[in-house]
Amino acid sequence: MTENKRKILVTSALPYANGSIHIGHLVEYIQTDIWVRFQKMCGNDCLYVCADDAHGTPIMLRAEQEGITPEQLIARTLEEHRADFAGFNIEFDNYHSTHSAENRELSTWIYTRLRDNNYITQRSIEQLYDPVKEMFLPDRFIRGECPTCHAQDQYGDQCEVCNRTYSPTDLLNPVSAISGATPIKKESLHFFFDLPAFEPKLREWTRNTLQAEIANKLEEWFLAGLQQWDISRDKPYFGFEIPDAPGKYFYVWLDAPVGYFASLKNLCERRGLDLDSYIRHDSQAEMYHFIGKDIMYFHALFWPAMLEGCGLRKPDNIFIHGFLTVNGQKMSKSRGTFIKAATYLQHLHPEYLRYYYASKLGSGIDDIDLNLDDFIFRINSDLVGKIVNIASRCAGFISKRFDGKLSGQLADPELFARITSGANESLKQLYENREYSKAMRAIMAIADEVNQYIDEHKPWVIAKVEGREQELQAVCTMGLNCYRLLVLYLKPVLPELAKNSEQFLNIAPLVWQDADHALLDHTINTFKPLMTRVEQEKVDAMIADSKDNLQASADTPPAVQNTLLTETPIAPVISIEDFGKIDLRVARILKAEQVEGADKLLQLTLDLGGETRNVFAGIKSAYDPATLEGRLTVMVANLAPRKMRFGVSEGMVLAAGSGKGDIYILSPDNGAEPGMRIK
Ligand code: MSP
Ligand code: ZN
Repeated sequence: MTENKRKILVTSALPYANGSIHIGHLVEYIQTDIWVRFQKMCGNDCLYVCADDAHGTPIMLRAEQEGITPEQLIARTLEEHRADFAGFNIEFDNYHSTHSAENRELSTWIYTRLRDNNYITQRSIEQLYDPVKEMFLPDRFIRGECPTCHAQDQYGDQCEVCNRTYSPTDLLNPVSAISGATPIKKESLHFFFDLPAFEPKLREWTRNTLQAEIANKLEEWFLAGLQQWDISRDKPYFGFEIPDAPGKYFYVWLDAPVGYFASLKNLCERRGLDLDSYIRHDSQAEMYHFIGKDIMYFHALFWPAMLEGCGLRKPDNIFIHGFLTVNGQKMSKSRGTFIKAATYLQHLHPEYLRYYYASKLGSGIDDIDLNLDDFIFRINSDLVGKIVNIASRCAGFISKRFDGKLSGQLADPELFARITSGANESLKQLYENREYSKAMRAIMAIADEVNQYIDEHKPWVIAKVEGREQELQAVCTMGLNCYRLLVLYLKPVLPELAKNSEQFLNIAPLVWQDADHALLDHTINTFKPLMTRVEQEKVDAMIADSKDNLQASADTPPAVQNTLLTETPIAPVISIEDFGKIDLRVARILKAEQVEGADKLLQLTLDLGGETRNVFAGIKSAYDPATLEGRLTVMVANLAPRKMRFGVSEGMVLAAGSGKGDIYILSPDNGAEPGMRIK
């Protein structure tokens, strides 16, 4: 066993430090954690490191918006992320930060080597600059009109309407999303990493290392041609300053992957391990990165090229997963499916989600769907109905009738042998190859067989017949031994269930090797319920709670966030003629009154400059009627009258709101008169 012990370094992508962990992220961390736990159970020497990705413009601006320093923001987020991961039983050997001494040292070292090996060049480029904020604008912080389809309010790098990518300087009527100013073009010196120089080596590495599905995708990029990679950013920037280049910083994506090594370095120093043995070019350790498909370019091209260029080892593989959808759609705040890790944990058990993701995940890059009805069904039917049920059907008799003692022999050694040998080897392969959904199916098939065994032998019937004690003990011993194996197989996915089961079975922590023997002549502890059913109400409550989550997501720039606050997409484009059909007028609120029996409405009497209108407006929650009387507002004057329960409404008052219940009536500037048309 020990001589075959593998030395493995595993990473998950480093989450950005300006947002909360959500159930989309968790696909990756759960997938990785299962793999690492499996390796450790097999006796391999496996390290799992991660960190917060703490640098970059969004983090800098986010901190500024909150009135704190970036250091304060990332310290707070680090604590939050660590707690979220712990809540889902994700067990890192180290969870560090890219804003660390180790990362500064390693990034600087790698950069210096690349520079000395002539892989870094400098040249001036022209970029959009915010003259008010006095900073160069990242693509995502510029909005404007798409040069192709003329859709308004598009990002600086890609149009969300026609999907075309372009350079921000091509955008028509650009606006800075930070200050609202019109950006100007400005030149500045940038540092470039010579990615094209690595093309032959990268091609070879790709073909020999990565899965075919991914190698094919990369082949498209090779065909399109690799470009010089801009690795510097001008101040103000939150990151590491480039040596000998004051005011220039490493672009966040340069030091982010180095963060894997920085986290490892920090761990090695604490545990007295040898960092070099993991990272130098002749390292005997295996190295794997788990990532999502959106960051493939960075991990399959930039990162291996950087490593090659500075003489360090490259990854043995990159395990790429797809994206999470919920009920078949993108996670959405308005649908309440943008569920944060912390919100989930307030309502549901972490291992439900771990199991559900395992039952969906394979080795490919397909997206995976969390269907909430299926989620409830799967957990209740598989985990509660099949697995835990085995223990609860057998344990009581052993405790009550036999003082917790198991028999000295297995009642059905053949069944046991079948479950151990074959299952053991093939399940091992499935875990190793990240075919978790196949593994879960195989395990549930075993559980079906065990439940069938119990159904056939009916311990609850034998228990009522005198003189059949031995048989009862044997059947229950058999059931519990099968349960122990099932828990062992599920342990990478359900470590908490495993821990509680080990406690109940009164055994040492299960390792993969333990499948080779049975538990006989052994005293167990009293059974306590190990897992309860998922209740629909809890899922509903979690969704309801997530609807209130209006906080920025990790990857949405803070300034842009405001425009997305309500998640109401901008309506389809209309012509000026269409707009002209709407007659908007300044109106004075003459009277505002409560409406009896209506909990949302106020009745308004509006003066349109001679003509008066009766309008029912849904603004009661936000305004005291008395404060409205006399003020000016804006109304749609040519809306078809609508008959309501309380009378006819002859128009509509304009108000803004985030959808959260806050309402803000519009008013014209001083000097406007009732009846004036708005154009
Ligand atoms: N900071 C970079 C990674 C740097 S690694 C050197 C980043 N951070 S992230 O927070 O946006 O994403 C972290 C990981 O979570 C990525 O691998 C990403 O693909 C994954 N996911 C984020 N949202 C996801 C879903 N909705 N579904 C599945 N995975 C998702 O990228
Ligand atoms: Zn477009």
